[in-house]
Amino acid sequence: MSNYHIKHLEEYYQIYRKSVRNPENFWEEVAEEHFEWRKRWDKVLDWDFTKPEIKWFQGAKLNITENCIDRHLHIRGNKTAILFEPNDPKEEAQHITYRQLHEKVCRFANVLREKGIGKGDRVIIYLPMIPELAFAVLACARIGAIHSVVFAGFSSTALSTRINDCGAKMVLTSDGSFRGSKTIDLKGIVDEALKSCKSVEKVLVAKRINSDIHMEEGRDEWLQPLLDVAYSDCSAEVMDAEDPLFILYTSGSTGRPKGMLHTTGGYMVYTAYTFKNVFQYREEDIYWCTADIGWITGHSYIVYGPLANGATTVMFEGVPSYPDFGRFWEVVEKHKINQFYTAPTAIRALAKENLGFVNTYDLSSLKVLGTVGEPINEEAWHWYNDHVGEKKCPIVDTWWQTETGGILISPIPFSTPTKPTYATLPMPGVQPALMDENGEEIKGNPADGRLCIKFPWPSMARSIWGDHQRYKDTYFSAYGNKYFTGDGALRDEVGYYRITGRVDDVIIVSGHNLGTAPIEDAINEHPAVAESAIVGFPHDIKGNALYGYVILKETGETRVKDNLRKEINQVITEHIGPIAKLDKIQFVPGLPKTRSGKIMRRILRKIASKDTSNLGDTSTLLNPEVVEDIMQEAL
Ligand code: PRX
Repeated sequence: MSNYHIKHLEEYYQIYRKSVRNPENFWEEVAEEHFEWRKRWDKVLDWDFTKPEIKWFQGAKLNITENCIDRHLHIRGNKTAILFEPNDPKEEAQHITYRQLHEKVCRFANVLREKGIGKGDRVIIYLPMIPELAFAVLACARIGAIHSVVFAGFSSTALSTRINDCGAKMVLTSDGSFRGSKTIDLKGIVDEALKSCKSVEKVLVAKRINSDIHMEEGRDEWLQPLLDVAYSDCSAEVMDAEDPLFILYTSGSTGRPKGMLHTTGGYMVYTAYTFKNVFQYREEDIYWCTADIGWITGHSYIVYGPLANGATTVMFEGVPSYPDFGRFWEVVEKHKINQFYTAPTAIRALAKENLGFVNTYDLSSLKVLGTVGEPINEEAWHWYNDHVGEKKCPIVDTWWQTETGGILISPIPFSTPTKPTYATLPMPGVQPALMDENGEEIKGNPADGRLCIKFPWPSMARSIWGDHQRYKDTYFSAYGNKYFTGDGALRDEVGYYRITGRVDDVIIVSGHNLGTAPIEDAINEHPAVAESAIVGFPHDIKGNALYGYVILKETGETRVKDNLRKEINQVITEHIGPIAKLDKIQFVPGLPKTRSGKIMRRILRKIASKDTSNLGDTSTLLNPEVVEDIMQEAL
């Protein structure tokens, strides 16, 4: 029995028990058998959740790109590593072999070195889903620079906040991007962001849309001419297992975005291990994850996990609705996709369209279907199962987070019987716990509580960049010696987990994590706004949408209010990005507050969800009368 590849349920339970009885032995075996290390570790694990400090494979030396690229060259040199499917179906797909990937990454890495980037420097990557994005990520890893990819849908303010937070020396971007029928001026957004960033010395620009852009003398350079003259081989920086690999920002319920810091060795081992098992990847398979590399899903399951297994991984530049709602299925047929991994919001959007969009295409190559990012509702699960998988493909509902680095709870296809809306069982080495209101672990099944993880796993984030105290406060202070996920969950009679959603002020809209505080801060910047509160409410396609309650400094006419709504969403777009726009904006005379001045979001959530039959006790409010006013005018 190999620990690395689980093939049936009995084997899963056996391996799981072993992994919990002796996690160090378990991960040591996996690490030893399946990766190339320049030097072996001195100690498998050192941890203390009270500090918190987590170290895996201490003393080991490696470079993750040697594991993702170089070691495949002699057996898989001509195998496609990255299959690029452009936004426009008329543009040809690109098959980039492992040998070509090696050359591209080496050239890029040499350019970075030549431009003064070295080990430990932060590089912001603000690129669309084009091959250069993957090359950029890997080129940073090749030379030990810390990449921080910022999703190319974020605004200039969001971009500059991230650049300044990590003190990036360089930005990698493109002249623009294609997104469905639109083009986006990425370089213009970078220029705007850099007006308030001092640390950036160089901007390298990839050409994608051939637009006429401003190039700042001395700062900006086109990437391609530099790549053309760079050496095609590049020695890999030898990294410590615990050296930083990347920073990825995620929203918190309050304050600035958190720069989650991931390190090298444990992240590589865990993402590769989970990729192999959760997708049951086999050598000839073509795997497609539709996420953007700007999110953790893309880092772990488009780039690192698949490439560490020598897989063929698809990068898709487009959107599911362009040129029509059949695009995903057209791509599945065209490239004979075997594993397909997407988000519930995409499934719900496509399920609303005519079934003809699915049935036109031959989807018989599909073996495993995945979902991630938010709870999948039963209806969407069945639609995916019946119409895409034709009831033959197990659905892996994978639960994890930016902070966890890799999938923690998921069925293993062909082993774990699936159950709609349940992420089912923990991966080997993962020890979940459900906690009650008193902070006690709930033993036995069934159970309903807050989800914690009791023991470290190799790919967990090690810190928040520049703010270790915040890391401790956010994840390790609520439940003593445990990692708190921020999610609620149920456990059924057989021990299957169902994630029910966030229990804090993070709202997941179309699979994107949005903190309420930054959006409220943005709205409050509008000169007419005195105060605001944001809550989520159920939405057919997005899962949740945003409802804003806004107090104006002066009350105006309805006509003016409609303009104000547009302006408020404009301010949000400028500060965060269009993904954080509000679906509903209600102007209110006041907000329900406790006597200590805290907004009672529970009440606002109920009103937004049209669930006002039981608002709970409002008598402790400072201003109970305002609740009636808000209800009367609710949208
Ligand atoms: O609430 C959970 C939800 O997404 C959150 C993590 O978001 P993010 O860091 O952006 O990472 C998303 C991609 C890994 C979690 O705290 N979530 C993620 N996957 C699921 C989920 N909720 C229910 N079921 C899932 N499969």
